[in-house]
Amino acid sequence: MKETALRTLLSEMTLEEKIGQLIQLPGYFQNEGMATGPAGDMGLTQEDLQLAGSYLSIAGAEKTRKLQTDFMANHPHHIPLLFMADIINGYRTVFPIPLAQGCTFDPDTVEAGAAVAASEAAAAGIHVTFSPMADLVRDARWGRVMESPGEDPCLNGRIAAAMVKGYRGKDLKEKGTIGACLKHFAGYGAPEGGRDYNTVELSCRTLKEDYLPAYSAAIKAGCDVVMTSFNTLDRIPSAANDWLLKQVLRREMDFRGMVITDWNALEELLRHGIAADQGEAAFIALRAGVDMDMTSSVYARNLKHLVEEGKIPEAWIDDSAWRVLMLKNKLSLFETPFRDADEKAEKELILCAAHRQAARECAEKSFVLLKNEEKILPLNLTEENIAFIGPYVNNQLLNGAWSVFADDEDTISLKKALLARPETQNTPTAPGCPIHDPEQSVTGFQRPVQPDKTDIENTLKEAVQLARRVKKVVLCLGEHRECTGEAASRGDITLPSCQIRLLNAVAEVNRNIIVVLFSGRPLDIRPLREKAKAILVAWLPGTEGGNAVVRTLSGEYNPGGKLSMCFPYSIGQLPIHYNHLNTGRPYHEEADNGRFFSRYQDIPNEPLYPFGFGLSYTSFAFSPVKLSADRMTRKDRITASVTVTNTGDRAGMETAQLYLRDLAGSVARPVRQLKDFRKVSLNPGESREITFLITEDILKFYNLQMQYVSEPGAFDVFIGPDSRTENGARFMLTE
Ligand code: BGC
Ligand code: BGC
Repeated sequence: MKETALRTLLSEMTLEEKIGQLIQLPGYFQNEGMATGPAGDMGLTQEDLQLAGSYLSIAGAEKTRKLQTDFMANHPHHIPLLFMADIINGYRTVFPIPLAQGCTFDPDTVEAGAAVAASEAAAAGIHVTFSPMADLVRDARWGRVMESPGEDPCLNGRIAAAMVKGYRGKDLKEKGTIGACLKHFAGYGAPEGGRDYNTVELSCRTLKEDYLPAYSAAIKAGCDVVMTSFNTLDRIPSAANDWLLKQVLRREMDFRGMVITDWNALEELLRHGIAADQGEAAFIALRAGVDMDMTSSVYARNLKHLVEEGKIPEAWIDDSAWRVLMLKNKLSLFETPFRDADEKAEKELILCAAHRQAARECAEKSFVLLKNEEKILPLNLTEENIAFIGPYVNNQLLNGAWSVFADDEDTISLKKALLARPETQNTPTAPGCPIHDPEQSVTGFQRPVQPDKTDIENTLKEAVQLARRVKKVVLCLGEHRECTGEAASRGDITLPSCQIRLLNAVAEVNRNIIVVLFSGRPLDIRPLREKAKAILVAWLPGTEGGNAVVRTLSGEYNPGGKLSMCFPYSIGQLPIHYNHLNTGRPYHEEADNGRFFSRYQDIPNEPLYPFGFGLSYTSFAFSPVKLSADRMTRKDRITASVTVTNTGDRAGMETAQLYLRDLAGSVARPVRQLKDFRKVSLNPGESREITFLITEDILKFYNLQMQYVSEPGAFDVFIGPDSRTENGARFMLTE
């Protein structure tokens, strides 16, 4: 529709119709009857429901087409509904969790995965996904780290932008595309103590320097919608934060699209204690710039009387309704209200071979090899005498917490993958122990039935007997998928004690242990490091997880993933991130008097495995960093190069990572920051020169006056295989 026609439409709509556009209803209303049941309990009338702008979490071509048809027929201006849903790491073909996708360090693969998700979701009638989540994370206690690309602003920005591009394609008018909703704006990834929904305390500088860049990158990539976060920032909940939504999001980041709250967040303004009643909540949220109210009744029940009483100018409603209509128009909903919803396409696309292959390849690229002593991996699955033991051998729950539309029955477990290959059909397996300790506290989900004590003892005994008989044991351990995700914060990030008991018992009879670790977050894995010769982190790898793991263990795929979030030494280090400030008393091991330094008495400062770390079955060498010049002005560009050589005996993939350190600034600067990275595939003996460009742009930061500028002085450049590399050179930025 032409913009002028859209303007005319807006001008013809009643106040009630315009307010209706600002309402997103939960999908379950559809299942439970309209103005009765939960909708009625919320105080919504039949009219509110008939004028709503959007539904959340309704999927399926047939369902969405029918709902759209009925809805438009009843709407006075026949305005189509907008269908939004959480397509986080896939629709029915599930890709690895976003944290794992961060470990690919491969935006192209992530983009391709998002495009697959979009095509399936679009065929099922979904218009916009609640993704990407670009929240920076530093605390593995927070269950939602699984939904984030990781701890680094640069990497998160690249991954989030790739997701946006993948969902939206080249043009939203093309088939198989969906709109993208960036979340959770802002700072949701920094709740105090890692406890979900908790208070966030960030200085304005840290917010801008570290937390906002990834959101910004996603917006630049073309995000259509932004979702506010549940948390407070500077004691103001995001859905009520004028400064955040107007000054930062709209003016500084130049975001022109629609802003939506998170689930029921307007009602939560009352519990945050910044609104005395719903009317006040509606007023401050609309004033702050919240266009759409996700699933609360605050806008529906209050905006009309606030306008009629003269407390809210109708122009505010018009502005927000306009942004909703503009989004619908951008999605061509006025012309094609069903968009791609198509039962035939659903059948053809969902879980098709090409999608499964893309999911498997993405999973393989996301695996991180943390340890591989004596080159115990890869395994010769045909000739070696190997057993697969552990609660993850025969577990199909590999999708992560947000795969709401997926069916676990479609998932290839490790066991299924082994059975499908002639050479491993008869490979012995044993569960060894349950995933949970019987006494382990897990809230909010149906725990699997716990076996009784005798069964537990027998299961362990059987596993130990098996381990004694074989040459190598692949031990498949991890946390249950429901232990991560929303509202799954944990005060303890060790493995359940039944799994540690299994590890210890197996280690007593067999020293050749390879651990495959499944989890949605970095865990405290000190016991694994001690007892296992190899550790492969498989995260929650999705539909094709089992195949991807077996192909990697066998060496058909050579792992090259890098940690997008460090594995801490222990929980006492959290929050932790590699790009910290130096402090006035940085601890270094050569310090002769170890006490008066910034350190712990009982644990190291360094994580167990740092950001950017990950091994391969081959080895790589980096030449010293070569700079094209050791001085530059703001107008110059210099290059930093290294030659990477595959020094091992098989082809593999390395990721060259460029870090910068600004040695002195008007405010304290991080010890290093990732600025760029490049993946390179090399055959044995092969070398490749990799050149990074250094321009003023990557030297900028928020100075004392909060201006985003560079300051002259010395910079160190490091290029290497992870964030601990000391392979560096120095240059000066001059006036
Ligand atoms: C989550 C969002 C999600 C929304 C809609 C909320 O609970 O915080 O990330 O998009 O629900 O399902
Ligand atoms: C301590 C101060 C103390 C000073 C002089 C420093 O290391 O932080 O609290 O006053 O030494 O002894």
